[in-house]
Amino acid sequence: MIFPRIKKMIKAVTARLVLAVKFLPREIRAAFLIMGVEAAGRSMLSPRRLISLYFHCSDPMLPQGCFVECGVARGGSLAIMSFASAGKRSVWGFDSFEGMPQLTEEDKSDGEEWVGYRCSGPDGLREAQRTLKSFHAAGDWVKLVRGWFEDTLPPAVAGLAPIAVLRLDNDWYESTRFCLETLYASVAEGGLVIIDDYHTFIGCKTAVDEFRQKRGITSPMITTESCSEAYWRKLV
Ligand SMILES: C[S@@+](CC[C@H](N)C(=O)[O-])C[C@H]1O[C@@H](n2cnc3c(N)ncnc32)[C@H](O)[C@@H]1O
Repeated sequence: MIFPRIKKMIKAVTARLVLAVKFLPREIRAAFLIMGVEAAGRSMLSPRRLISLYFHCSDPMLPQGCFVECGVARGGSLAIMSFASAGKRSVWGFDSFEGMPQLTEEDKSDGEEWVGYRCSGPDGLREAQRTLKSFHAAGDWVKLVRGWFEDTLPPAVAGLAPIAVLRLDNDWYESTRFCLETLYASVAEGGLVIIDDYHTFIGCKTAVDEFRQKRGITSPMITTESCSEAYWRKLV
């Protein structure tokens, strides 16, 4: 259908124009950013999750520290994190940009149809860079790291701490388990751990539940969207 496509195009262009007007109140610009990212198909997140992400990353009660997203794809959610940081925190995005990896036994075949799917599109890293730039969310505080988490996170982790918001959007058991094992110790007290696929994929939920149980984490899991996202606040 041509009409919905034209409507989306108009929304995306309007958003880009409004975002260029720096003196508008931040909340107005954030609303246009979310509208634009959604309309331009730059994120797989629903508007509800994008809005929630903006408010989480803008919370004045957040501890000091950077924002980290594992699973960037086209960069839509990272653009929201970058905008919310206002350039005052560093923002890190990690992704292979190679397509979704194989499942492991713990995923119980849930998500099989997505294996190999390039959420970032054929242009990988460049797509994410384009998103950040076209929605005025690029800057020297944002760092994109290409590669498998298993290769990129261990050498980067020392430079990330403290982390104020850790956002995991990598769908499968092994990716989620590895990110938690590697990065959780760097999350600051009072920081947020957001799990995009907690209610979506069984492997992701298993990895989170096992991790929380093993570490004795009792801080409640709060659902943002009943079909997908939940988060908790790290209490020490
Ligand atoms: C659902 S997409 C992320 C969506 C994105 N946050 C958005 O705003 O649309 C999941 C991403 O996780 C990445 N990913 C999953 N497992 C990975 C791993 N082990 N190493 C690197 N990237 C991984 C995939 O390449 C994919 O781009």
